[in-house]
Amino acid sequence: MTKTIGVLTSGGDAPGMNAAIRAVTRVSCFRGYSVIGFERGWDGLLTNCYRKLTPRSVGGIIQTGGTILHTLRCSAFEQPQNQEIAAETLHKNNVDALVVIGGDGSFRGALELSRKSGVPMFGIPATIDNDVFGTDETIGFDTAVNTAVGAIDKIRDTAISHERIFIVEVMGRKRGFLALQVGICVGAEVVLIPEKPLDTPDVIKIMEANSGKGKRAGIIVAAEGFGDSNKLAQDMQQQTEAEVRLSILGYAQRGGSPTARSRLLASLFAEHAVDLISENKSNLSVGLQNGAIISVKLEVSARERKPLDLRLLRVAEMLAI
Ligand code: F6P
Repeated sequence: MTKTIGVLTSGGDAPGMNAAIRAVTRVSCFRGYSVIGFERGWDGLLTNCYRKLTPRSVGGIIQTGGTILHTLRCSAFEQPQNQEIAAETLHKNNVDALVVIGGDGSFRGALELSRKSGVPMFGIPATIDNDVFGTDETIGFDTAVNTAVGAIDKIRDTAISHERIFIVEVMGRKRGFLALQVGICVGAEVVLIPEKPLDTPDVIKIMEANSGKGKRAGIIVAAEGFGDSNKLAQDMQQQTEAEVRLSILGYAQRGGSPTARSRLLASLFAEHAVDLISENKSNLSVGLQNGAIISVKLEVSARERKPLDLRLLRVAEMLAI
C-alpha cells in the first residue's frame, strides 16, 4: 500500500538538514511512497502548511546549509489543544509516519504527538550541539566544529601577533561537546565546559603558568553554557598583566555548507529512518554508534542525558603543556 510520509525540521537549524530532507524524500520515493514536507517545524502542523516533496524538488540542496522547510522554536506546540490540532492535520493528510529532523526537544514533541495521533514518529538527530542521547554524532556537528576551528585558527594569528589571550565562546547550549572537540582541534590552552567548570582563579593560574613556560599568547575555548565569558574576560584583564579579548563566534556556527561527514550522516540516517518505516516500526530515532547506523527508542533518546567523555578534557590538557 502506498504510504504518505511527512517530514519536518524543528528547533535550531543545523548544516545537513537539507541533505536529510533530500534523502528522506528520495529514499521514500524510491520505495513508492509519497512525501509531504511541513513548513516551519511544528507550526506547519498547526496551520496545515506543507508542500509535496519529489526527487526533483529536493535537487540541488545537498550542499546547502539551513533548511528549505524552514524551522521554528514553536512554544505553541507545547499546549495540548494545539497538539490535537497537529494530530488532526496528520490524519487529514493521511500521513502514515512522520520524520522529525531536530534535537531532543523536537523528539519530545514528536512523542507527545504520537500519543495524541497514533501516528508513528521517527527522529533524525540534527543539531550542532551533538547533545542527543543514542547517537555518537548528530547532523551538523562536524560542520560546526570545522566552522569554529577555521575561525579560531584566524583568531590565533592575531593572538600571536599581539601576544594576547583570547577567550573564544562557542555554542553548545548547556553542553560542552562542541567546545571540547573544537578545543582539541585548535590546540586551546584551556577548554571551559559546563560539565567540569573551572573558576576564574584556576584559569588565571593556568595562563600564568603558561606565560612562565614561554607561551606569549593563548586561546581559551569556552562553551556558551559554562558561565559568563564576558565576566571572565574582564576579571582576567583586571587581575593579570595579560591583554585579554573575548570573541563570541555565535550563529555563524549554525550556517554554511555541510561538510562531507554531515552530508553522509544525513543521507545514512534518512535511509535508515525510511527503512524502519517500511518495516512498520514505530517511534524510533536513528543514530550512529561505534560506526554503525542504529535505532533506539524515541522515548529513550528524548529523555536520557548523553554522557560527555571527560577523558577528552584530559587529552586537551595534556596537549596544552
Ligand atoms: O541548539 C542549537 C543552538 O545553536 C545552541 O547551540 C544555542 O544555544 C541555541 O541553539 C540558540 O538558539 P536560538 O536559535 O533560539 O537563539
